[in-house]
Amino acid sequence: MLETDLLPWIEAAGDLGDDVLEIGPGPGLTTDLLRRRVRRLTAVEIDEQLAASLRARLSGTNVDVVCGDATSAGFGANRFSAATCFSVLHHLPSPSHQDRLFAEVGRVLRPGGILVGADSRDLDSIRSGHDGDVFVPLDPSTLGTRLAAAGLVGTVIDVGDYQFRFVSRKPALPLE
Ligand SMILES: C[S@@+](CC[C@H](N)C(=O)[O-])C[C@H]1O[C@@H](n2cnc3c(N)ncnc32)[C@H](O)[C@@H]1O
Repeated sequence: MLETDLLPWIEAAGDLGDDVLEIGPGPGLTTDLLRRRVRRLTAVEIDEQLAASLRARLSGTNVDVVCGDATSAGFGANRFSAATCFSVLHHLPSPSHQDRLFAEVGRVLRPGGILVGADSRDLDSIRSGHDGDVFVPLDPSTLGTRLAAAGLVGTVIDVGDYQFRFVSRKPALPLE
């Protein structure tokens, strides 16, 4: 599904550029898709075990694995050409944590950089799959406004049967 469905959509979403941040790589399936297409990839994962095993597996490649909370991982401002978050947002414990993540992405993206993401819709079938786990689904109809509050504009959202996908941009600097 990642290769045949998500990847073509990512490639159509825009140029990810040369220095990409992946938020929440988990076991690294999406990391494997991304790392073959970008020069440098930084994957920030909050779970210590997942981060450690991904770091070991991808040692010596173009991927840096950082163990930390992407809402406050301490990356430099205006660094990344793109950020991605696939199936991560609903794992953040509250809407305010999600907004904090958007603000952080707005800070670490370069002007003109893009945020590309996908997340679950609020469906009973998906909710029941998260029994005993965090599930804070986002409403796609308010996502553009929430991203705009973080300084990310031009949001385009595709709503599918089970998930929605979105791309949003940090405004480029005006030409001098
Ligand atoms: C469902 S997995 C998605 C993995 C991968 N992106 C994919 O699509 O296959 C979500 C991952 O996000 C991580 N995560 C959740 N909150 C995070 C945060 N605040 N910062 C970094 N990673 C986070 C989780 O530990 C988990 O590994």
